Amino acid sequence: MTSATWTAVDEYLCDRMLPRDPVLEATQRSAADAGLPAISVSATQGKFLHLLARIAGARRVLEIGTLAGYSTIWLARALPKEGRVVTLEFDPAHAEVARANIARAGFEGIVDIRVGAALETLPSLAAEAPFDLVFIDADKPSTPDYFRWAIKLSRPGAVIVVDNVVRNGDIIDASGKNQDVEGMRRFFDLLAAEPRVTGTAVQTVGAKGYDGFAIAVVT
Ligand SMILES: C[S@@+](CC[C@H](N)C(=O)[O-])C[C@H]1O[C@@H](n2cnc3c(N)ncnc32)[C@H](O)[C@@H]1O
Repeated sequence: MTSATWTAVDEYLCDRMLPRDPVLEATQRSAADAGLPAISVSATQGKFLHLLARIAGARRVLEIGTLAGYSTIWLARALPKEGRVVTLEFDPAHAEVARANIARAGFEGIVDIRVGAALETLPSLAAEAPFDLVFIDADKPSTPDYFRWAIKLSRPGAVIVVDNVVRNGDIIDASGKNQDVEGMRRFFDLLAAEPRVTGTAVQTVGAKGYDGFAIAVVT
């Protein structure tokens, strides 16, 4: 099994279940044209997030890490008319690209992009809480801090999703040499010890390589 097979299977799955989507295609094109890194979730993963939000009956979603708004649009599509997405992005250039994509997708009215370091913007979100679903997908060393904030800002029963928790298998490397891996290992320590959540993680392969999601429910 190679990553070429994983990518081909992703293409097959998209072909069967995800019809061509001009809005999302334009979003990815605009990200590439603006020179943004190709680090969004894949199409099948975006649909997975969308379905999770629907299963959870989410009305208020918090996303940490916007990039060009690709996952933001998938999540916004899952919400009712009066729903709301607050998405946090450090880089003003990324936020500008995302703003145009979100407007093109018709979600200008329900998506609020907050520009700045998430650890600085998160404390200002108390008035918008509680959230029904939180998606954590920003700088990996801060993931444990984002997870603490996610719990604080969520209602009981809320879903917290954390991306990139397997990192090509490097999650089992305890050497401490890689700060991103170290962040994820501290996140799992927290998840294991935190009595207010119960969670699991699922390894994934596909067009984005070998990685995984963690999913937790706030009790
Ligand atoms: C993996 S990308 C997000 C991808 C997006 N969720 C998607 O799937 O379409 C991570 C984003 O987090 C942003 N980021 C990095 N550090 C951050 C921080 N301290 N606060 C907020 N955003 C940050 C990066 O600029 C980047 O745009």
